[in-house]
Amino acid sequence: MVCKSFGICGGCSLKQDGYSAQIKLKQGKVKALLGPFYNGEIEVTPSPNTEYFRNKIELSFCRQVVWSEPYGKKKKVVRDKTKPLEFENTFGFRLKGRWDRCVNIEDCLLYEPNLSAYAKALRLWAEEKKLSFYDQRTHEGLLRNLILRRGVNMGEGMAVLITAAPFEHAEDFAKLTETFYPSYHILTAVNDGVSDASGLKDIKVIKGKGFIREKILESGREIIFEISPQSFFQTNTKAANLIYEKVASKMAELKPAVMYDFYGGAGSFSLCCAPYVGKSLCVESVPSAVNDGVRNAKINKIDNVNFFCATTEDFLAKNKIGSHNSVIVLDPPRSGVHPAACAKILNSGAPKIFYISCNPVTLAENLKTLSAKYKVTHVECFDFFPHSEHIETLAELELK
Ligand SMILES: C[S@@+](CC[C@H](N)C(=O)[O-])C[C@H]1O[C@@H](n2cnc3c(N)ncnc32)[C@H](O)[C@@H]1O
Repeated sequence: MVCKSFGICGGCSLKQDGYSAQIKLKQGKVKALLGPFYNGEIEVTPSPNTEYFRNKIELSFCRQVVWSEPYGKKKKVVRDKTKPLEFENTFGFRLKGRWDRCVNIEDCLLYEPNLSAYAKALRLWAEEKKLSFYDQRTHEGLLRNLILRRGVNMGEGMAVLITAAPFEHAEDFAKLTETFYPSYHILTAVNDGVSDASGLKDIKVIKGKGFIREKILESGREIIFEISPQSFFQTNTKAANLIYEKVASKMAELKPAVMYDFYGGAGSFSLCCAPYVGKSLCVESVPSAVNDGVRNAKINKIDNVNFFCATTEDFLAKNKIGSHNSVIVLDPPRSGVHPAACAKILNSGAPKIFYISCNPVTLAENLKTLSAKYKVTHVECFDFFPHSEHIETLAELELK
């Protein structure tokens, strides 16, 4: 099934290919990029769900100029220049390839079935109340973004409304949200920076708690995670669980004295691998994620993880990796491992590295450096991102 906005909305890009064709396409890309370092088979584990698999989405409110053919021929956006500018308010995902325009959510298959009705109701409510939608070009407008997050294994959810200035209608927003998502925690936050990626401030809990809970299963063991609005958590819980289990099973074989968990988020790898390692050092740069990690370790009665709030490159500039019986886990963002960190890891002497990557291009770049002293012994992929070009890759490296 393809949604009405396919080809226009930036949410999906590969839907028309059919799921098995999507997997083949992504597998071929990874194989080509990693070819210089690894020539074995690369298996891809499909996502357990290909619809409604995301546990988090971020939608945008957008004031934009109306175009006569909204998406134009061949999806090219065309404005009727014979008429004066007319503006409209939209609420949804960004238009494919555009930073300043959105497409209203209609029948989206990414988050959960209620989403389209909720998004429409919220847009109409905001218009009725005459609340201004944010204009990315002029940086004017009050309503900016909405984050929806849910623990797919725990049934908890959260809605965070982000505005450009303090918001006076929070109770009303909560009432509307409750009619669609009765059990959700409801929050507001302010982003007064120019970019959507600027940090949130003034986070207020309107209803419920300031975090959701999610559960990961590792060899039958339940690990509970509390996740706050700004903490990273993999967006496809069921697919991510497979990679956590895989890395934990490798640790169970290796039983390292020390596991370095770089780009650790709220501690997912550290907590999953805790029973199999002497201790784990979890390094993460976002303070709220580190706080979540510390809390998560306590909740799960795990006491052999030490959390560090630092960038990986800063941590490695100040601390030497103990090479004896240690294992490194790298799970960087799309930009990959910083060259300075990569150089330190190359000379660390750690016998094993597990590199988890959401961008095979930067993985290949980092392998150019690391392959001077490390051999890639195994690569496999996990599809966390059906209908998009993205894929998660797990590469195992061994000291030559
Ligand atoms: C792909 S996520 C992985 C998180 C975690 N390993 C997990 O599985 O949930 C990357 C994480 O790296 C953090 N990060 C980004 N740049 C960083 C840096 N230079 N040093 C350390 N952490 C960083 C992000 O905040 C994010 O939590």
